[in-house]
Amino acid sequence: MPLTGVEGRLEGKVAIVTGGAHGIGEATVRLFTTHGAKVIIADIRDAAGQKLAESLPQWAIYIHCDVSKEEDVKAAVDFAMKKHGRLDIMFNNAGRADSNKNGVAEYEMDQFEITMNVNAKGVMHGIKHAARVMIPTKKGCIISTASVSGIMGGVTPYAYTASKHAVIGLTKNGAAELGKYGIRVNCVSPSLVATEILMDYLGSKDKGVVEAWGSSVGNLSGVMLKPEDIAEAVLYLAGDESRYVSGHNLVVDGGSTVVNHGWGLYKK
Ligand SMILES: NC(=O)c1ccc[n+]([C@@H]2O[C@H](COP(=O)([O-])OP(=O)(O)OC[C@H]3O[C@@H](n4cnc5c(N)ncnc54)[C@H](O)[C@@H]3O)[C@@H](O)[C@H]2O)c1
Repeated sequence: MPLTGVEGRLEGKVAIVTGGAHGIGEATVRLFTTHGAKVIIADIRDAAGQKLAESLPQWAIYIHCDVSKEEDVKAAVDFAMKKHGRLDIMFNNAGRADSNKNGVAEYEMDQFEITMNVNAKGVMHGIKHAARVMIPTKKGCIISTASVSGIMGGVTPYAYTASKHAVIGLTKNGAAELGKYGIRVNCVSPSLVATEILMDYLGSKDKGVVEAWGSSVGNLSGVMLKPEDIAEAVLYLAGDESRYVSGHNLVVDGGSTVVNHGWGLYKK
């Protein structure tokens, strides 16, 4: 898929992308480096992260970072400061699926904790440690990946839904507190993208089938949502083009969360 035409929108900036080894994170890493950013890929998939970093310009570096562990996120931020002397963009994107498809009465609570630890606590760790180094410089940009599950109920299991609602809440708190330091805090909310997390959850290895299903439950015809579409939204939030945007949840869903086609008014 072609990337944004005008290059250099992040020239000289330093970014950390958690969950950067695959999917949406990988697409964002690629787009950020195309636009001149120095990117630290922070993930738990060492082989994939390393391979991605080696395939990119010298400014991409992989480090192991489990976002559910505060010490790992702290170390990633400290690494950026030691290596580059600055951190301009923190993209808290790492996430996991909640594999528990039982109803609430049979819900296995260990899944709740595991999912919240990565999806919600992991984002809190990212906001906390990015803020720690951004506050003294009075600038910076923090972006997290939420989901349409952060504004709707019933489309994903309990912990995933709760965790993505939490990401939007953390974004608002961060924006409210950090605005006085010139730091912007936003999130993106994708609908269905045929990445590993979704394919695993649906139990399908066939990307085409998953994409077709995603389209069939969507609203906008003729477009298949890709990781690169989310990366473009993140680029907008990371760049100076969005310099007065903070506390925002940029929903990238082709309009699917604003309509219930069950009413039958518009969709034939
Ligand atoms: N794919 C979708 O349909 C969809 C929709 C809405 C939101 N999201 C969110 O987008 C984000 C990216 O997911 P994706 O779709 O690219 O899936 P993906 O599976 O392709 O990528 C997720 C990445 O996160 C990494 N990761 C998982 N746990 C981690 C941890 N504890 N520490 C560090 N890294 C970890 C994985 O190794 C992987 O590289 C997630 O937060 C996900 O919840 C995805």
